[in-house]
Amino acid sequence: MSKKVGVGLLGLGTVGSGVASILENPENRHPLVNDIQIIQVAVRDLSRKRSSELTNATLTDNPQSVVDDPKVAVVVEVMGGIEPARTLIMRAISAGKSVVTANKALIARHGEEIATAANAAGVYVLIEAAVGGGIPIIEPLKQSLGGNKINKVSGIINGTTNYILSRMANEGVPYTDVLTKAQELGYAEADPAADVEGFDAADKIAILSGLAFGGSIKRSEIPTQGITKLQSRDVDFAKRLGYAVKLLAISERLDPSPQDSNSLPLAVRVKPTLVPLNHPLAGVDGVNNAILVEGDPIGQVMFYGPGAGAGPTASAVVADILNIAGIGQTQKKHNRKP
Ligand code: NAP
Ligand code: HSE
Repeated sequence: MSKKVGVGLLGLGTVGSGVASILENPENRHPLVNDIQIIQVAVRDLSRKRSSELTNATLTDNPQSVVDDPKVAVVVEVMGGIEPARTLIMRAISAGKSVVTANKALIARHGEEIATAANAAGVYVLIEAAVGGGIPIIEPLKQSLGGNKINKVSGIINGTTNYILSRMANEGVPYTDVLTKAQELGYAEADPAADVEGFDAADKIAILSGLAFGGSIKRSEIPTQGITKLQSRDVDFAKRLGYAVKLLAISERLDPSPQDSNSLPLAVRVKPTLVPLNHPLAGVDGVNNAILVEGDPIGQVMFYGPGAGAGPTASAVVADILNIAGIGQTQKKHNRKP
């Protein structure tokens, strides 16, 4: 029997519980799921009642002890926020541990520092869950579309605002009522201003731009407008005129490139946009996301699926854990039989 890969979970909220639920129930999933074991889980409030079943893991309110546990080989950061998440991830990397994170706010601001440290330490930091919830978009941009010159990445990349806008358009429900529902469903960020002000979509388009076009994007320079000023009647008028209102994030190559050689030749923005009802993005409703990638020679590819919530996000997190575990196993086999 192969030795189990020890996982340390930082956070047991919406995403952490989803991850625990998959790893604690390996039946009929990829055989490697059987080889993953949650060792320790960090939460903020130990007295809170938890719905997740954790068979053999220890719960702690000391996240550093999770990172430092010698039985933990992979640290899964699903606690959110910039600090202490950044320090904990850097500590894991320094200890030679690979990291999986869903934290787009952190990666959009400190992704370069983290990637540099990971490369130097020879470990992985995988971020599939950071953009598009359950939609595989990070690996396709890093690998499957690698032969293309990407010209544009655009789409709906915030589930909460798309859920709100869809229900406003289809049921005429007031904005604030739907936001409360999106929070109950676990779609919204801890501070939902990140969703409705467009900041979360800006974090995600910064990450996608870096992957699609190479180089880093200054997150603070992305023009960002959210949906807080929209009312049900705006969405209703738009519909009657043949449009859906969607919060779009767009990143496109500028041709010709600007004179300023310090910045990537890109136009990046997040804003509510009128989308003709016959456009493929107009039919993307509810918590779903859709990302259009335009490249040469592939043309246009659309990635579509659930963009937030426990199950879809955990699906992406576990895929990253399995990738790391799989690489470890391949290397072990390879070492045994060169
Ligand atoms: P959440 O429900 O608020 O859960 C956060 C968890 O982290 C909680 O268990 C909390 O403990 C724990 N935590 C927070 N600060 C801590 C600290 N200083 N020490 C120890 N534990 C701490 O958040 P979430 O929705 O799961 O999101 C987690 C991350 O995933 C965020 O970066 C978010 O942006 C990202 N994400 C979320 C979704 C989604 O659909 N929700 C989708 C993609 C990515 P307590 O339980 O004791 O409060
Ligand atoms: N709050 C985010 C959203 C979670 O609604 O899209 C998924 O990243």
